[in-house]
Amino acid sequence: MPALGLGSSAQFGGYGHEATVCALKDCGMRLLDTAARYGTEESIGKAIKDSGIPRKDLFVVTKLWFTNMGYESGKKALQASLKALGLEYVDLYLIHWPVCPDGTADPVKCRQETWKAMEESYEAGLCKAIGVSNYEISHYEELKAMKCKVMPQAAQLEFHVMQDPNREIIKYCRDNNIVMMAYSPYAAGKAFALPKVKELAEKYKKTAGQIMLRWIVQHGIVPIPKTAKVERAKENAQVFDFELSKEDMAVLDSIHKESSVKICEAPS
Ligand SMILES: NC(=O)c1ccc[n+]([C@@H]2O[C@H](COP(=O)([O-])OP(=O)(O)OC[C@H]3O[C@@H](n4cnc5c(N)ncnc54)[C@H](OP(=O)(O)O)[C@@H]3O)[C@@H](O)[C@H]2O)c1
Repeated sequence: MPALGLGSSAQFGGYGHEATVCALKDCGMRLLDTAARYGTEESIGKAIKDSGIPRKDLFVVTKLWFTNMGYESGKKALQASLKALGLEYVDLYLIHWPVCPDGTADPVKCRQETWKAMEESYEAGLCKAIGVSNYEISHYEELKAMKCKVMPQAAQLEFHVMQDPNREIIKYCRDNNIVMMAYSPYAAGKAFALPKVKELAEKYKKTAGQIMLRWIVQHGIVPIPKTAKVERAKENAQVFDFELSKEDMAVLDSIHKESSVKICEAPS
């Protein structure tokens, strides 16, 4: 998986075709994150075509929405996503939330059967890796209990300076070799105004955004910032030409103690 990606949820600030093509063509971005829920799969497929970047050089991630949880519906959902993207496979397919449709009698069984469908899609080559998003430790343990063939290879979770970087789930993913992806790496825009981030931006002669992405990269996690703007796509890609000191990492690690926020809540 590339060390940095581009989000595509239109929830904060919309989706931008030009910015996505620019990220691919001019900024070296190779990881694209989408989801059936975002309604951007077709747009991502179009951006890939317009960029001219060969499919094999890209890492495309999409996700199964909770209304499609289940064995049969899980398999169909991936087919629908591939069709929308115009691709024969995705590089990573994720269960978007550990939530089952209203009225599901046995949610644990529902999640386990969905995972079985994910494993079979993986074996069939429709996705090169499988994972989850927003899973808590108890949800991973359900997969171990069913003696799954493949444990999640990657996980998306909310990760930014306004949350504790050392919380249990992070340690759990590390201990279980699950590659982590940081969604809402800017806390959906809320973190730009933090004085400590601004101070470090001045010190390193970088932008606040670059400081926050670099902090995530140095935690060994893959940030997927979203922007609909060409200039910001360029800015967000420039995070590999500097390094934060141990002391400054610690400053950012402690922000959540005074300013904390959680952006995403489970759907219902
Ligand atoms: N798995 C999940 O459950 C889950 C949940 C949430 C998100 N995600 C994924 O993660 C991606 C990123 O998360 P997010 O969209 O919630 O939030 P985010 O990336 O933390 O923040 C996006 C906001 O920051 C602004 N922005 C981006 N770059 C900027 C820059 N350099 N300077 C100033 N402002 C900037 C954007 O505005 P402009 O667009 O106008 O630049 C937008 O308002 C999503 O798009 C999606 O792909 C996954």
